Amino acid sequence: MKVLVIGGGAREHALCRSLSLDPDVTALHCAPGNAGIGEVAQLHPVDAMDGAAVALLATELAAELVVVGPEAPLVAGVADAVRAAGIPCFGPSREAAELEGSKAFAKEVMAAAEVPTARSYVCTTPEEIDEALDAFGAPYVVKDDGLAAGKGVVVTDDLAAAREHALACGRVVIEEFLDGPEVSLFAITDGETVLPLTPAQDFKRALDGDAGPNTGGMGAYSPLPWADPKMVDHVMANVLQPTVDELRRRGTPFSGLLYAGLAITSRGVRVIEFNARFGDPETQVVLARLQTPLAGVLLNAAQGTLDVQLPLRWRDDAAVTVVVASHNYPDTPRTGDPIEGLDEVAAKDAPHAYVLHAGTRREGGAVVSAGGRVLSVTATGKDLAQARERAYTAVARIRLDGSQHRTDIARKAAGE
Ligand code: AMP
Ligand code: GLY
Repeated sequence: MKVLVIGGGAREHALCRSLSLDPDVTALHCAPGNAGIGEVAQLHPVDAMDGAAVALLATELAAELVVVGPEAPLVAGVADAVRAAGIPCFGPSREAAELEGSKAFAKEVMAAAEVPTARSYVCTTPEEIDEALDAFGAPYVVKDDGLAAGKGVVVTDDLAAAREHALACGRVVIEEFLDGPEVSLFAITDGETVLPLTPAQDFKRALDGDAGPNTGGMGAYSPLPWADPKMVDHVMANVLQPTVDELRRRGTPFSGLLYAGLAITSRGVRVIEFNARFGDPETQVVLARLQTPLAGVLLNAAQGTLDVQLPLRWRDDAAVTVVVASHNYPDTPRTGDPIEGLDEVAAKDAPHAYVLHAGTRREGGAVVSAGGRVLSVTATGKDLAQARERAYTAVARIRLDGSQHRTDIARKAAGE
């Protein structure tokens, strides 16, 4: 199978790595990719946001499957353009991707499907904003309605800060605060059949101890030893299947990856958000544990034949990923710094630990930083403690001036 992956982050590197290990994949391409993806796939300098250009590239390559990684191209309709060219595409249509593209739309779908989520108001005027903030009280949860790369959400006890963010958003969702641990549960779906993956936990805040600003995610681990083993079945029955059924009922079936961001509250599981694509960095740990070859599963979803898919197989291994971010991430990350130590990780830590590139590019013989989240070091082990140790050993070999990473990824779950 010839496969084209669209995107260029660590999630796409993880996808390309898994696809490159799949014996069914005969050719692997990526656009635009990054320095690390270039080692496992052929790169093409095509704009991921340009549906016509992506469809043309897929046609020229005779791709038999296109996998669209990030949310922005999905919300822009890139998957529709690929399908219109007659090529199976893993990723939802523009209309179905609104589940991530508009938080207000997601709330409306959840209400119709009776999916448990935080109570919320959609506000557009200063009066509505003040009323909603007053109704819920602190801590305030204020979400930009549209896509904001993980930075549109402010959770704060400070009323003035909550108000300021809300006013800056235009259309804004203000909602009830959910406490309790968070879980990311992904499901692959063809619009009808839903196949859950293994749960993971993400670390959204920039600094140790969940301090600092929200980011796109600073690390992740899987499995979750503390979680109720029945949780996945419960979320399937109460969240994932009803949401997929509701979108199909509306005539806008969701096929691709449905990501449920969940809070495990004292009153039960609640949806914090939906995403319309694989999560980053959770994908790095979920795919590290997936034993079933990936391409066939994604193709079945893309072709509407997920009902024939055999159950997924998972390794007993645990996986931990630690994101290395550039100086000043998430505010105004500095780029263009050389990254050293990548060869050392490959020589000394593989195959148990490896580097997945995010914001990197090649400059002459060197690899330099090219984004906020620069790379994620992923490691597996017999348990979380061993995976953690291997991940941090590899992180310590990487030298990037001014870089930052959290030191407490999976610490609590590993019982340390
Ligand atoms: P989102 O972009 O919706 O995932 O929000 C980013 C992060 O903000 C989440 O991972 C949570 O940590 C936090 N958050 C979002 N909504 C809520 C909520 N209703 N209550 C508490 N924390 C929230
Ligand atoms: N890790 C959070 C996200 O992918 O949105």
